[in-house]
Amino acid sequence: MRVLRTLVAGVVLLPGVAAGQSVTFTKDVAPILQRSCVACHRPGEMAPMSLMTYEDVRPWARSVKARVVAREMPPWHLDRHIGIQTFKDDPSLTDEEINTIAKWVDSGAARGNAADMPPLRQFANSIEWQIKPDIVIKYPVKIVPAAGPDLFGNLYADIPITKDRYIKAIQTRTATAASRKVVHHALSYAVDDPDTIEVSGDDSQGVDGGQFLVEFASGKNAEVYPDDAGVLLQVGKKAMVSYHLHSVGEETKAEIELGITLHPEGYVPKHIRWSKQLAQPTAAIDIPAGTVARIDGYTVLHKAARLIAFQPHMHIRGKRQCLELIYPTSGSSARTEVVNCANFNYNWHLTYNYADTTQPLVPAGTILHTISWHDNSTANKFNPDPRNWVGDGQRTIDEMGFAWIGWHDLTDEEYKAQLAERKGLQQKAATTTAQPQQRH
Ligand code: HEC
Repeated sequence: MRVLRTLVAGVVLLPGVAAGQSVTFTKDVAPILQRSCVACHRPGEMAPMSLMTYEDVRPWARSVKARVVAREMPPWHLDRHIGIQTFKDDPSLTDEEINTIAKWVDSGAARGNAADMPPLRQFANSIEWQIKPDIVIKYPVKIVPAAGPDLFGNLYADIPITKDRYIKAIQTRTATAASRKVVHHALSYAVDDPDTIEVSGDDSQGVDGGQFLVEFASGKNAEVYPDDAGVLLQVGKKAMVSYHLHSVGEETKAEIELGITLHPEGYVPKHIRWSKQLAQPTAAIDIPAGTVARIDGYTVLHKAARLIAFQPHMHIRGKRQCLELIYPTSGSSARTEVVNCANFNYNWHLTYNYADTTQPLVPAGTILHTISWHDNSTANKFNPDPRNWVGDGQRTIDEMGFAWIGWHDLTDEEYKAQLAERKGLQQKAATTTAQPQQRH
C-alpha cells in the first residue's frame, strides 16, 4: 500500500519537476532549515538530530512536517495575532514557509538540483570563548545520568568583584563538547545570596528579585554591548544559573561557565540595560485542583523607558502570559495596549528581543501589567498532579507569574526625542506601504 502511494505521488510530481515548479529540498526547503533550525539541529548541538543535509533530513521528513505545521518547531511561542511582531533573531516560519515544507513532504520529499543548495551556515564554536573575559564564573558541575527525566534547577557561584562594575560583554559556554549535548538551556542571573533571600511583595522598579544577565541557547553568540552601554553587576550578589539538562545515553558532566568582560573600573555607561522580574503577582497565587487560573501582576515604571526584551516566567503549570501597558492619564478614561502574548512551555524559556524599530517607548508613570494563566487541569500534559492545589513557591511544582523585562531608562527629553524619531520612521514607512503601523 505504502509503496503504491509513493509511486502515485511520483507520477503526479513528475510533470511538476519537468516544469521546474515542484518543491525540492535544495531549492525550497534547505534555505528555511538553514535559517530557522540548524542553530540547534546540527552535529554537536543539543537537538536530537541534524537537519543540515538532505541525507540528514529525509528520514525525518514526516516528523518535520508535523512539528512545523503544529508550530512546535522552531520553538517560538508568541501569539502571531496580537501586538508586536518584529523581533531580533526571530526564527519562526511564515505560513508560506510552513506550506512549502508540507508540500515538499506530501509530494515525496525530492532532493532537487545540487546546484540549488544554499551554502551551509557557519557557527562559532559554542564551547569556546568569543570574548576575552576578565572574570570566569564556573558553576558547580552537575552529573547528568545516562537516562532519566530532564533535570531542572538552579546552581550558584560567587562573582569575583570587589566593587560594583558594568558588564561590557558576556557569554555562557559549556566547558566541554559533552556538556554541550546535555545542556538544553541555561539562563544566568545576579541574585541575592539564596541563604539570605527574603521573598517580598515589593515590585517597584529597580527593587531586586535579581538581574537577568544572559541566556544560553543554541546558535547564540556572546553579547557585546556598545561602548556607551552596559549592565550593572553589583558586588555581593551571587551568580545563579537556571538550568534544563537532559540525558543522552551516557553519564555526562554538565559544566557551565559564565565569562564576563568588564568596563573599566569607575566607568558608568550612558545607557544601562536593566533586566528584572517585573509585574509580580499582587495577590497570593491560588490555583485550585483541576482548574485554569488567571493571575495579574503590576509594576509602575517611575521613569520613561525603552523596553527591549520580554521573557515570561512561570513554572510547569504555566500556559500563557500577556504583557499590557496601562498608560498614565490625566483624564478619566484609561488607555491600555497589549504589547504581546505568548504561550508558555516550561521546556523553553524564550527571551523575545524587540527589534530596534519596535522596542516600546513608554512615558514615566506607565504601569506594566502581566496577565498569566496557569493550567492545573489534566489538559496540561506537564502537570504532575492535577488533584493538588498550587500556590507560590520556588520549586518547579510551585508557581510564579511575572516577566523578566529588559529595558533602558530614559529621561523625559530622551523619551520625547525617541518618540518623535519613531513617528518619523513610521510616517516614512506609511508612505511606502499601505500597512497601518501598530506602534506609537
Ligand atoms: C532552539 C533550538 C531548536 C530550534 C531552533 C529547532 N529545534 Fe527542533 N528540536 C529541538 C529540541 C531540543 C528537540 C527535542 C526536544 C523537543 O522535542 O522539544 C527538537 C525536536 C524536534 C523534532 C522532533 C524530533 C523527534 O525526536 O521526534 C523535529 C521534527 C524538529 N525538532 C524539527 C525542527 C525544525 C524543522 C526546525 C526549524 C523549522 C527546528 N526543529 C528548530 C531544538 C530546536
